[in-house]
This record gives sequence, C-alpha cells and structure tokens, in this order.
Amino acid sequence: MFARALTAEAELRPLEPWRAEEFLRNLDRAREHIAPWVGASFVATDLPSARAVLQRYADRWARDAGGIWGIWLDGVLVGGVMFVAFDTALGVCEVGCWLEPAAEGRGLVTRAVGVVLDWAVGQRGMHRVEWRTNADNARSLAVARRLGMRHDGTLRQVYPGPVRRIDIEVWSVLADEWRNPSTTVPSPAAI
Ligand SMILES: CC(C)(COP(=O)(O)OP(=O)(O)OC[C@H]1O[C@@H](n2cnc3c(N)ncnc32)[C@H](O)[C@@H]1OP(=O)(O)O)[C@@H](O)C(=O)NCCC(=O)NCCS
Repeated sequence: MFARALTAEAELRPLEPWRAEEFLRNLDRAREHIAPWVGASFVATDLPSARAVLQRYADRWARDAGGIWGIWLDGVLVGGVMFVAFDTALGVCEVGCWLEPAAEGRGLVTRAVGVVLDWAVGQRGMHRVEWRTNADNARSLAVARRLGMRHDGTLRQVYPGPVRRIDIEVWSVLADEWRNPSTTVPSPAAI
C-alpha cells in the first residue's frame, strides 16, 4: 500500500508476511545467486518457511529491532533491504540486501539502502550503520563503497566454507559521515 519511488520503474515497499508467495517466487529466481552470500535461514524453500522469514522480520519490526523492505521492479518483487540488527539503545544497526540477477546493475540496492539509512540516521538517531559481508563478495563490497562506508576490519575465518574458512569484512558509516558525505575520508580499502 505504501511505496517509495526508487526510479521511474522501481519502488520500495514494506515486505510483510502476507507477501510470502511473492517472496518465495523472488527467492526461487534468486536462490542459486544469493545462497553463497546470505544466511541459509533466509533462503526459504517453501511457503511456510518463506512466511516464517517475513514473520521473523515483522516481529523484529514490532520490537523496534529490525525490518525488511522489498524492491519491486515493473511490479515484480526482485529483492530488498533489511535491518538484520537495530539496537536503538546503542545507536547501532546492521543493514543487508539481496537481488535476483535480472535486477542487478541498476543501482536499486544502493538507492534502497540510502532510503532506509536516511530514516535510521535522520529519524531514529542511529549513530553507526554496519555492513558485514563475505570478503569474496565483490558486488556487496562495491555497494558498501558506493554508500561511502569505510572498511573497519576483517574478521578472519569466521565460518566454514566450501573451500576454506570464510573471512567477514565489517564496513560502516557513522551518522555525521552519512549526513556530510563530502567530509568522509575514504579508507584505503575504498580507494
Ligand atoms: C549485493 C547485490 C545486492 C548488489 O547488487 P548490484 O545491482 O550490484 O548493486 P546496486 O543496486 O548498488 O547497483 C550497482 C550497479 O548498478 C549500476 N548503477 C546504475 N545506476 C546506478 C545508480 N544511480 N547508482 C548506483 N549504481 C548504479 C552500477 O554501475 C553498478 O553496476 P556494475 O556493478 O555493473 O558496475 C547483489 O549482487 C546480490 O544480491 N548479491 C547476492 C546476495 C548478496 O550478496 N547480498 C549481500 C550480502 S552482504
């Protein structure tokens, strides 16, 4: 019902549990592409598990501890952005995202994350927004750079992986840097 235009063809809307069938169709188109990079519990495989993912985010939203929004391109749900963590007492949150392959390369996620960060920093007083990603996930790292985030550091060999253990890069943007991007000094990794 409520939508925010991202481009002439794309909109950001709340992704609520009643959208589970649409969400599952999006995951079916995205599954192979996103599975190496997002938590296994997110990549639902049937309607009950798709509804459960969206219900988990709805519960977080109700507790003011997270949220999820979908991106619709020409009326089709193609991906979205979410706060996987949202700690209002600490002023720290973590944002994540996914897209099906056909929707990549249009700046949709960069725009969508911008909208939710404007809200988190501008209206909710978040001080620090984090982006955590597999160090091999080049497209995700490019999004963090595009958003003006800095590379805080790398958590080495956090998870077992198919070939070797996986390093997780932690990137962040602080409230002042988000409000005044021109004053941000890029980290060496972002240059
Ligand atoms: C990570 C992911 C969402 C990035 O998608 P993406 O389309 O590359 O990211 P954006 O929406 O920011 O789009 C950037 C692309 O659009 C292009 N673009 C076009 N107009 C643009 C605009 N106005 N602003 C920014 N980028 C724009 C950019 O040049 C870039 O294209 P390129 O990579 O071919 O150079 C996607 O690859 C994905 O879903 N991967 C699997 C799941 C995943 O990794 N999730 C994140 C876990 S941390």
